[in-house]
Amino acid sequence: MFGKFSRRQFATLAGFSALGMATPAKPEDSMVKPAPDRRASASFPNGFIWGTATSAYQIEGAVKEDGRGQSIWDTFSHTPGKIRDRTNADRANDHYHRYKEDVQLIKALGVKAYRFSIAWPRVFPDGTGAVNPKGLDFYNRLLDELLANGIEPFATLYHWDLPQSLQDRVGGWQSSETSKAFADYAGHVAERLSDRVTSFFTLNEAGRFLNFGYGWGIDAPGLKLPPAALNQTRHNVVLGHGLAVQAIRAKARAGTKIGLAENIAACLPAIDTPENIGAAEIATRELNAGLLNVILTGEYTQGFLKYAGKDAPKYTAGELRIISSPIDFVGLNIYAPQFYVVASDKAPGFNVLPFPSSFPRMNSDWLRIGPETAYWVPRLSAKLWNLDTIYITENGASADDKVSPDGNIYDLDRIMYLRNYLTQLQRATAEGVPVRGYFLWSLMDNFEWIYGFDKRFGLYRVDFDTLVRTPKLSVAFYRNVITRNAVDV
Ligand code: NOJ
Repeated sequence: MFGKFSRRQFATLAGFSALGMATPAKPEDSMVKPAPDRRASASFPNGFIWGTATSAYQIEGAVKEDGRGQSIWDTFSHTPGKIRDRTNADRANDHYHRYKEDVQLIKALGVKAYRFSIAWPRVFPDGTGAVNPKGLDFYNRLLDELLANGIEPFATLYHWDLPQSLQDRVGGWQSSETSKAFADYAGHVAERLSDRVTSFFTLNEAGRFLNFGYGWGIDAPGLKLPPAALNQTRHNVVLGHGLAVQAIRAKARAGTKIGLAENIAACLPAIDTPENIGAAEIATRELNAGLLNVILTGEYTQGFLKYAGKDAPKYTAGELRIISSPIDFVGLNIYAPQFYVVASDKAPGFNVLPFPSSFPRMNSDWLRIGPETAYWVPRLSAKLWNLDTIYITENGASADDKVSPDGNIYDLDRIMYLRNYLTQLQRATAEGVPVRGYFLWSLMDNFEWIYGFDKRFGLYRVDFDTLVRTPKLSVAFYRNVITRNAVDV
C-alpha cells in the first residue's frame, strides 16, 4: 500500500513534515519492520488453540422448527419494552439453515476450534420428560460438518435459553428441580455427542444471567428477587453445574473434558505493587465467592457468608461436595476490567476505586477498555485456584461497524482492542500462566440480548435484512495472528 508513495509523500502523510520533525533516514527500517527479537517474544505457546464462539439463541433462529420448545428468551424478547431495538431472535442469523456456509466462515479464519451452545429446549422442549427426537439432529449435522472441515467443537450446554416450561412449573433456577433437570439434559447430550465433542462447558456466564435475569429483571426471565431468594437461586445454579458434571462423567465417553465458562468478576491491581496484587487476589476470591470460588474450593467464604447474613443460601455439606466436583478446565470470558483495587489494612483487605467518567470504552456502555484484564485475570485465577488449564472462552468487542463506500468494513477500533488484549494475554502465557486457548467473540454479528441487533460483535458483518455475511478487516487481523501464532507488540 505504501508502494505508490514517494518517501517525501509518505513523510507528509505520516505527519513528520507538519510537525516539523526530521524524516527518519529509513522509515521502513525504524517504523515498518518489526524487530525480530520482539516478534519472537510475542509468540503464543506451541499448540495454543485459536477459536471463535457463538451461542444458540443469538444465531440459530428457527425457533419453532423441528419440535423446539419455547425458551425464557423467546418470551422475554417478545415482551414489549425489553429489547432496546424492539427485535427478537426468531430468525436471527438463520444459522439453523445456513450452518454449512457458517462453517466455511469459521474455516476461512484459520481457527481450529469453535465454541457453540446447544439449545436445551430443542432437546427437551419442556425441560424434562419427553425427548424431542429431532432435537439433536441439528447438532449432529453441525458436528459432522465441523469435523469434516478440521474444526474441533467445544459445546456449551447452557447459554441462557432455559425451557419456558421449567420457568412456569418450578420458577426456573429458583428451584433445585431445575438443577436436577439440567443434569439429566447434560447427561443425555453427553451420552449422544461425546463421540465427537471432547470438551463440554456446563454453564455460560452464570454471574450475568443470575444478576441480570433474577436480580435486576433486565434479562430473561425478568425477575427482581430479594437477596435471600437470589442467593438461593445462585446456589441452585452452582448445584446444577455440579450435578451436570457428575451426569456427564457418568454418561460420556471416557476422557471427555468438562468445565464451565464464567464472566468472572475481573479484579485488577490499580498499580502493580506487591500489596495491590495481593489485594486483587483477595478481591478475586471474595467477589467471585458465590460462583467460581465455591465451585473450585467447595466452600462459601467467611466474607460471603458474613455479608449475606440472614440471607445466606441454605445448603448441605453434601451439596458443597457436588458443587465442587472436579473439573478439567476453567473458561474465562474476558471483556472489561470491573474492579481496580488497592490494598487496605481493613477487612476484607482491598478497596475498589471509582471509575472516572472519561475512562475509555468501546461502543457498548459497559465495555470499558482495559487490555491488562487479559493478563491479570488468568494470572490471579491460576494462582488462587491452582488451575492447570484455562481457556479464554470469550473476548471481543462491539464497534460501530459501517460499510465503507468501497464495500469494506474497516473496524480499526476492534483491531486496536484485540491487539492490546492479545498482547496482554501473550504476556500471561509467556510467564507460564496456563492459558491453552482463546475463543474470539464472536464469529459474526448476532442477537446481542437486550441490545438486539444494534451492538455488533462479529468478525463477519451480517446484514440482517439479506443475511449476507461480509468479512470485516478484523478477519484479516485475526487470521494473521493465528498464522503466526503471535501478536505484534
Ligand atoms: C457474554 C455472553 O456470553 C455473550 O452471549 C454476549 O453476546 C457477549 N458477552 C457480549 O456481550
